[in-house]
Amino acid sequence: MATGKPSEIVEPKGKLGVLLVGLGAVSTTFIAGVEAIKKGIADPVGSLTQMGTIRLGKRTENRVPLIKDFVPLAKLEDLVFGAWDIFEDSAYEAAMHAGVLEKDLLLQLKGPLQKVKPMRAVFDQSYVKRLNGTNVKSGKNKLDLANQLIDEIAEWKRKNKASRVVMIWAASTEIFLEENPVHKTIESFEKAMRGNHKSIAPSMIYAYAALKSGIPFANGAPNLTVDIPAIRTLAEQNKLAICGKDFKTGQTLMKTIIAPGLKSRMLGLHGWYSTNILGNRDGEVLDDPESFRTKEESKLSVLEYILQPEVYPDLYKDFSHVVRINYYPPRGDNKEGWDNIDIFGWLGYPMQIKVNFLCRDSILAAPIVLDLALFLDLAQRAGMKGIQEWLSFYFKSPQTAPHLYPEHDIFIQLMKLKNTLRHLRGEDLITHLGLEYYD
Ligand SMILES: NC(=O)c1ccc[n+]([C@@H]2O[C@H](COP(=O)([O-])OP(=O)(O)OC[C@H]3O[C@@H](n4cnc5c(N)ncnc54)[C@H](O)[C@@H]3O)[C@@H](O)[C@H]2O)c1
Repeated sequence: MATGKPSEIVEPKGKLGVLLVGLGAVSTTFIAGVEAIKKGIADPVGSLTQMGTIRLGKRTENRVPLIKDFVPLAKLEDLVFGAWDIFEDSAYEAAMHAGVLEKDLLLQLKGPLQKVKPMRAVFDQSYVKRLNGTNVKSGKNKLDLANQLIDEIAEWKRKNKASRVVMIWAASTEIFLEENPVHKTIESFEKAMRGNHKSIAPSMIYAYAALKSGIPFANGAPNLTVDIPAIRTLAEQNKLAICGKDFKTGQTLMKTIIAPGLKSRMLGLHGWYSTNILGNRDGEVLDDPESFRTKEESKLSVLEYILQPEVYPDLYKDFSHVVRINYYPPRGDNKEGWDNIDIFGWLGYPMQIKVNFLCRDSILAAPIVLDLALFLDLAQRAGMKGIQEWLSFYFKSPQTAPHLYPEHDIFIQLMKLKNTLRHLRGEDLITHLGLEYYD
């Protein structure tokens, strides 16, 4: 039985524009997937918005609707895609190049994929050393580039008859940047854009343009982008949702599944060694030490937060955590990850777990892009603004308010996501407390 008051959610009328920064492996696998699902030749496996259910009320009530029937989400038929990339390839050519999906499948989707042609990118090679492309905007400074994006977004929205738009960063990982005083306020940020300050990365220019255009933004890479105060303030001021960062796929997904389990049984950890080989363009970019550092920071924080060594020093103090990524072209997008986990149990007796994950990165990332697009649009229509912590479920480094620590445990993240949906609909939150044990 519902006890709360449902939030006012505007119905999803008309088309939802999904603007993707970067038209590489993840973006094309996402777009091709949606087109294949629309044609009825594939199922949306891995997507919580499409396949997930949500329990409502007591277990005896047997109310378990699909999430997409419980909250008003945009329909796949109403999605329209746009993108920016430094290469001119359409989504069809880029998908062929990425080599994630089979050629036979792509041939069946050639029509809609060919229609997605990338707009000229805001790009500067000093932020992604291993890439060099020609489909790039020029402007007199970074603010001018942002204004070009703003005009282009308005034009794109009009041409594509989109009633709403969301933007998702699925472009390359930039070099490691730290917060700088110019990131502090909107004024200092704009001044720095005018002066071409090196602390303003291309990803921040896109985020600024999105938020100036009234569009929510999700950050799928480990870049600093929307973490800085100026962008957070802009999101709050313009009442727009933001979230990030770094899609949680592959090895980190496994880590946030296994580590909460070990901790729940009070099993100790001496060390966790993770290594990966991958051969796609992402792997090539991450072969540059400066881009790798951004990724490494994002991957390393996960275990510390889940295991809480300060609360459980006997189990988790000083465990060793090493992450390696090696670019190995023959593997393409089919990455292989090995984990060696040195754990200990009763009386300190050591044990080992070995995980060999033959993973397909973009196959795991594509449904995340879909869910984020639909949930960001929902958040916007429900009047939610600023950092969307309930979307932590999808990220390696979940964005939180500055005074809070991020929640990495995937099971807590899922509970938080579903309780947010229940709250939006005025349903009781589920705590899993079995009151039947009491008189
Ligand atoms: N695949 C995954 O599972 C996964 C998981 C987490 C994060 N990510 C991140 O998602 C991003 C995309 O991954 P991918 O495998 O699709 O990589 P990719 O290299 O195939 O695609 C990225 C695309 O972005 C383009 N690009 C780079 N800078 C740009 C800019 N400033 N503007 C417009 N386009 C730009 C590149 O030309 C490239 O086509 C990467 O940052 C990656 O680290 C991917």
